[in-house]
Amino acid sequence: MRNASFDVNRIAPSDITPPDKFLTRRSLLAGGLGLAAAQTIGGFLRPAYGQSAPGTALTYTHNVEYSAADTPNTFKDISTYNNYYEFGTDKSDPAENSKNFRTQPWNVTVGGECEVAGTFSLEDILKPHPLEERIYRMRCVEAWSMIVPWVGFPLADLLKRFKPTSKAKYVEFHTLLDPKQMPGERGSVLDWPYVEGLRLDEAMHPLTLMTVGLYGKALPNQNGAPLRLIVPWKYGFKGVKAINTIRFVERMPATTWAKMAPGEYGFFANVNPAVDHPRWSQATERHIGGSLFDQRRPTLPFNGYASQVAPLYTGMNLKTYF
Ligand code: MTE
Repeated sequence: MRNASFDVNRIAPSDITPPDKFLTRRSLLAGGLGLAAAQTIGGFLRPAYGQSAPGTALTYTHNVEYSAADTPNTFKDISTYNNYYEFGTDKSDPAENSKNFRTQPWNVTVGGECEVAGTFSLEDILKPHPLEERIYRMRCVEAWSMIVPWVGFPLADLLKRFKPTSKAKYVEFHTLLDPKQMPGERGSVLDWPYVEGLRLDEAMHPLTLMTVGLYGKALPNQNGAPLRLIVPWKYGFKGVKAINTIRFVERMPATTWAKMAPGEYGFFANVNPAVDHPRWSQATERHIGGSLFDQRRPTLPFNGYASQVAPLYTGMNLKTYF
């Protein structure tokens, strides 16, 4: 296990692809040579990810080090019980209303406190990163939980490429703003676009996953295609979907739910049985997919990842910084 706390100022120069190489690689990837190299990762041919429609089989390795031993929920549970207010507020709405959402072509704009900024195609963002499957415990602030086999790559590997400056203390992510395609964005149930953020050391933690698939296939639209965040020790609302903007910033970002109801949803949002939501207890959770008669389970601090992530919060009062 690597050291849980990760200071971006300590990234060795050798860890960072210099901008000129990154850009050379980008232009190479646009040509046939790079494409051929990217397609043979792991010895298998795979379509360039950015051109993969939801449901396309992905090539990945299973990462045992960061996987929970629990049995995953069914694909049906994971893809029909969703939170995605851009497509409606009922759990069944996203699967129903996101069917025609277009995720190709897709660009991600990177900016703020970093040396390599710009707008990158999804292919450019994803090609250098070998994909891993990780089975993660997920916990929603509404006190339910699931186990999901996500496919993605460490967010740190991506962020380092943009060379955050010493002023970058947080990283902010935005969902696409496109009310034509996302009917929820035509109303004001939330302040659009959906914005989430992490402190830079949280973003660089090896558990934090830039996610492109689940159950070995490219993400269904309702789960956040083509690119979403997964931070397994935090409540699910940190897992922003359909990301099209990444910004490195000096100050704590104003995030969607923390702005909407600051007394109920904090910026940190670490799973914590000792800090209740003002309207319900967080001490136990209901596992989705279990029988109605299943006992509720005790909620684990940091969703069961305490040994890996608690050092990130040494000295912080987690009742104040919930
Ligand atoms: N991202 C966007 N853009 N819009 C949303 O409404 N909901 C969040 C998060 N990401 C949400 C979002 C919440 S509250 C949860 S619990 C998770 O997505 C649910 O992810 P899932 O549907 O893949 O389980």
